[in-house]
Amino acid sequence: MFAQLAPDVEFRTWPDVGDADRVEYLVAWTPPPDLAARFPNLRVAFSTGAGVDQFDFAAVPPHVLLARMVEPGIVDGMVEYATLAVLALHRRWPQYVRQQREGRWADLPYVPAHARRVGVMGLGALGRAVLARLGTFGFERIGWSRSAHAIDGVECHAGLEALDGFLARLDILVCLLPLTPETRGILDARRLAALPRGASLVNVARGPHVDAAALLDALDRGHLEEAILDVTDPEPLPGDHPLWRHPRVLLTPHVASVTQPGTAARTVIEQIRRHRRGEPLRDVVDRTRGY
Ligand code: NAP
Ligand code: GLV
Repeated sequence: MFAQLAPDVEFRTWPDVGDADRVEYLVAWTPPPDLAARFPNLRVAFSTGAGVDQFDFAAVPPHVLLARMVEPGIVDGMVEYATLAVLALHRRWPQYVRQQREGRWADLPYVPAHARRVGVMGLGALGRAVLARLGTFGFERIGWSRSAHAIDGVECHAGLEALDGFLARLDILVCLLPLTPETRGILDARRLAALPRGASLVNVARGPHVDAAALLDALDRGHLEEAILDVTDPEPLPGDHPLWRHPRVLLTPHVASVTQPGTAARTVIEQIRRHRRGEPLRDVVDRTRGY
């Protein structure tokens, strides 16, 4: 892609870095620990992921910008997965799968989409895209973020003080927060209890957002109906972890959305062009906030 679209930019693949003093841009999932010494003229580090919790900020000198990966492929993938999960819960698909296994032919009450309340934690690039698509089905949409947002058709809440009230309004909760010191463990026993009885959870953000023991307990007590988890703590999930076999948990191995090299390369090239023109980069990480 670089050879085709940006022949003026010399592109090398690790470990064939050539003259390390000439490296100005780095694309990586995690930086090498000796980043600053290894590439003394580095200007920008691009995370290959939308999340940067895996990126050791301490390894990136303060004058080097760090940008997240927000590219059409990763956004589309997340919209597909989150929509699939919400529609599955809305139409009681996991329950019908259980009934099929029991050879039971029984219909469950139909709830129209406009009577189903779907909440998204995190109103960033991915959360907003997911909410926009969910709007096409007519769901009642509610969002929660750190700072106040105004999104057409979405009831927006902001700040920790509004979190319990937000949770209490939901039938389906989708977590799309970044993992930071403030959001680690945010869905603990108390927060899960703030969801109405019969609500379901979709976690497509990071495993450590959710207290797995509290989630299992909420499912066992029937407080929560289902959980669809694309992320766990740790990853991969150990074979003997109870989440694997819980009848009301559907697990996928962190595949909700993956950076697509074709579209991502275009995004990185566009970012490099901006940087070279002296324009501000998009999706720069604020290291004090952690996202
Ligand atoms: P983003 O654009 O940085 O948006 C983050 C959102 O979370 C913002 O709305 C932000 O609030 C909110 N937020 C952050 N800290 C908060 C806090 N303490 N309290 C309340 N709200 C808070 O991120 P994104 O691109 O949408 O990505 C979100 C996450 O998805 C990534 O960090 C990554 O972990 C995850 N992800 C998962 C997969 C997968 O395959 N499972 C794929 C890609 C990404 P403000 O708007 O007020 O700043
Ligand atoms: C994947 O989880 C990402 O953060 O891009």
